[in-house]
Amino acid sequence: MNPTQNRIRLFEMLAGLLATQLIVFGLAFYMLNEPTRIVTAQTDILHTQLDDAMTLYAENCSVCHGLAGEGIGANPALNNPALQTMPYEDLAKTIERGRFNTAMPAWSKEDGGPLSDYQISELVNLIQSGDWNATQDRVVNLGLAPLVPFTTEPDPALFAELANLPDGATLQTAVTLFATNCVACHGADGLGTGIAPALNDPLVREKTAEELNRTVTLGSAGTLMAGWSNALTPEEISVLVTLVTRWDEVPAGILPAPDVPIPTTEESIALGGQLFSQNCSRCHGPEGQGTQRAPALNVKGFLTDTSDVAIQQIVTNGVPGTAMPAWGDRMTEAEIQAIVGFIRQWEATAPEVATPTRGGGGGPPWLRNNTSTTTTTGQGQSAATTTTGQGQGAGQGQGQGQGQGQTTTAWWQTFDWRILLLIFGALSVSFTLIFMGFESLKNLPKKNPPGK
Ligand code: HEC
Ligand code: HEC
Ligand code: HEC
Repeated sequence: MNPTQNRIRLFEMLAGLLATQLIVFGLAFYMLNEPTRIVTAQTDILHTQLDDAMTLYAENCSVCHGLAGEGIGANPALNNPALQTMPYEDLAKTIERGRFNTAMPAWSKEDGGPLSDYQISELVNLIQSGDWNATQDRVVNLGLAPLVPFTTEPDPALFAELANLPDGATLQTAVTLFATNCVACHGADGLGTGIAPALNDPLVREKTAEELNRTVTLGSAGTLMAGWSNALTPEEISVLVTLVTRWDEVPAGILPAPDVPIPTTEESIALGGQLFSQNCSRCHGPEGQGTQRAPALNVKGFLTDTSDVAIQQIVTNGVPGTAMPAWGDRMTEAEIQAIVGFIRQWEATAPEVATPTRGGGGGPPWLRNNTSTTTTTGQGQSAATTTTGQGQGAGQGQGQGQGQGQTTTAWWQTFDWRILLLIFGALSVSFTLIFMGFESLKNLPKKNPPGK
């Protein structure tokens, strides 16, 4: 065999080895990832379902069963271990058909409710294997946090005045009942909320007592208005109907809104800050410190005297006859609540008197109250030098990541680091083989033996 043939054979061997290496590592890599891929696909489906269900819960159930399934008053908790182990069919049936003669309405389309069978199955999954903390965040982010406590205290002086009206005792009983059962949905002074219409309204007063009595007793199918025949006696219901028909005689302010802080999440505060700098800072100053155009909001006195619900009402309805616009027709309730949560954050550090405005409406960028920018997406730089000589190799790698962005997940959070291990393993084996190849090439005779 001549040396050229030898050399060719050696290269063939090396190439073969390398190819085998590639196949082996490729297979190993695939096998390593296959189980995770299947699991990921399954969890993705469950994840989408639970995600839908959290929104369904927020929109339909949280008003009675609470922010995080904890239950409110007579409405039972759903974050209850007994429900987690209940047979799937039983739980689905409860939601489909409701509980006859209770405030729990029927939800399936078949029974006159608004939800499809698929949506109900998603809700069953949520109750049996969902994450109530995440659900709470969803309810808050959608601006659907229920008013807890459900109840409010009637204003004592105005309540006493009621006694002077004809049949005042009946009205007093009705106001007390309304304050414990109805105010959370129908709002302060019965003026309505985002989830239920005003009852203190001339159009409602035009309805007959029988009509109203039927709605309160039986509820209104497919809406949040449940039948109250189980929770209230017929006398109590007719007393409430009397209040609804005579509301124009009742002094305004007798039933304040429940004074509850608007719950916040990290997302809602970030959104509130962004909306504030886009819509409010040009008049109220980038840090709420006020301008010539509008008063300071970032002051102790204002913040301690004004409840979240009140700020929400001011922002929603505006201040008629001033430059303060009504934002209710431009923003959703969730957005306004997010701004209120953002404004409320100032209370801890708010000065007693307004601090002077810095630089008019806008101010330099570093003073503007921008939402925090997170360091997320990465830019990688790497340099690798490989020196070969006399059978020695040295490798050096350097990586640097730096970046700014607004995405919520960074690439290194999803990157599978095992890939790097595999690549480094494969590289080191290949280098060893190549060096071995070079070494053996050196040992080959330099020249063809003479005479052939
Ligand atoms: C108007 C208030 C109200 C709303 C809205 C409401 N529920 Fe209920 N729910 C109740 C009441 C009251 C009960 C207790 C009925 C009883 O006494 O058996 C109940 C019971 C339940 C139960 C049975 C709990 C148990 O321990 O047996 C489930 C499950 C349930 N609700 C799920 C839901 C789901 C899901 C939604 C949203 C699609 C929803 N509810 C919306 C008032 C409500
Ligand atoms: C969970 C929220 C909720 C609670 C609590 C609630 N309601 Fe309602 N109510 C509604 C909704 C939503 C409607 C509108 C129903 C519709 O569109 O048909 C309504 C409608 C009504 C109506 C009919 C108004 C009309 O224009 O015909 C009356 C009367 C009424 N509610 C009285 C009461 C009384 C009295 C209570 C307390 C005992 C009460 N509601 C508690 C949500 C609620
Ligand atoms: C065009 C200018 C302007 C814009 C934009 C504006 N406001 Fe106002 N705002 C005012 C003025 C003027 C008042 C004072 C009204 C008065 O005299 O009672 C006010 C009052 C208020 C008050 C009550 C303050 C108090 O001391 O009683 C709140 C709360 C408020 N604004 C919040 C907001 C929020 C939140 C936004 C953004 C969504 C906003 N405003 C956007 C002009 C503005």
